[in-house]
Amino acid sequence: MTLISGSQVAEKVLAECQRGIAALKARGVTPGLAVVLVGDDPASRAYVRSKDKKCRDLGLYSVKLELPATTTQQELLDVVAKLNADPAIHGILVQSPPPKHIDEAAIVRAIDPAKDVDGFHPVNVAKLALEDPTGFVPCTPLGCQRLLIDAGIETKGAHAVVIGRSMIVGKPMAMLLMAKGPGGDATVTVAHSRTRDLAAITREADIIIAAIGRPSFVKAEHVKQGAVVIDVGINRVEDLGSEKGYKLVGDVAFDEVAPKCRAITPVPGGVGPMTIAMLMANTVKACQQSLG
Ligand code: GUN
Repeated sequence: MTLISGSQVAEKVLAECQRGIAALKARGVTPGLAVVLVGDDPASRAYVRSKDKKCRDLGLYSVKLELPATTTQQELLDVVAKLNADPAIHGILVQSPPPKHIDEAAIVRAIDPAKDVDGFHPVNVAKLALEDPTGFVPCTPLGCQRLLIDAGIETKGAHAVVIGRSMIVGKPMAMLLMAKGPGGDATVTVAHSRTRDLAAITREADIIIAAIGRPSFVKAEHVKQGAVVIDVGINRVEDLGSEKGYKLVGDVAFDEVAPKCRAITPVPGGVGPMTIAMLMANTVKACQQSLG
């Protein structure tokens, strides 16, 4: 069994970003990313902080906007409009999920697609479906695909089962895996909470992408011998023995699944660091494309 280290592959991606950033700085431009958080969800706050820190470590220009949970739709639209118009900002990310009174789809549509480094805008969703390389692909599935490529996992002709149909992970992951080229050309099944006899389907998979958002959901019975498992889940579960009072576990019951796998990603240290690395890569790409 191979443990696929997201931390190691993320370092490689970040080294590539550094070369891109150096070339852009030599042309007098520093890529800039704005990360917007509305409300005080602790997990979202932690993600936003780590995105901001990684930007600074890399020498990107970073703006972190932490807005109160009472922020109105119009106030948030105004913030987005300002960032759209700011030439120092090449990438804009509004952390999901926002508070309930915010119409997230309307906020996403308000972001300039050329700055939509999350790849959530309809223009970028369409570009992914059209396999247009100028589009932005959501960071988490892009990171999962990169992990498969770097680990030498052949996706061509493989049966990949994506568990989860979210706009952030499941749907774009399925599109990436079925697209033509490296990390693609797979036969893709998308399973979800309404799927009948899920285990029968996942047991057919050469590659499983688990993006359900439920701790330790994928068990040994879901996985065939020799499968590759990518665990997208980052779930906080109570752990009174730890200092923070919680620990992070994936969507996969690692201890029982790992022995059956040809390769598997750990949590933490798997997909998580890749998501941030791909965000940096998308920001560098947005900056490069803005220069024409
Ligand atoms: N929430 C969980 N993952 C993501 C992501 O990739 N982007 C944004 N904006 N919010 C998220």
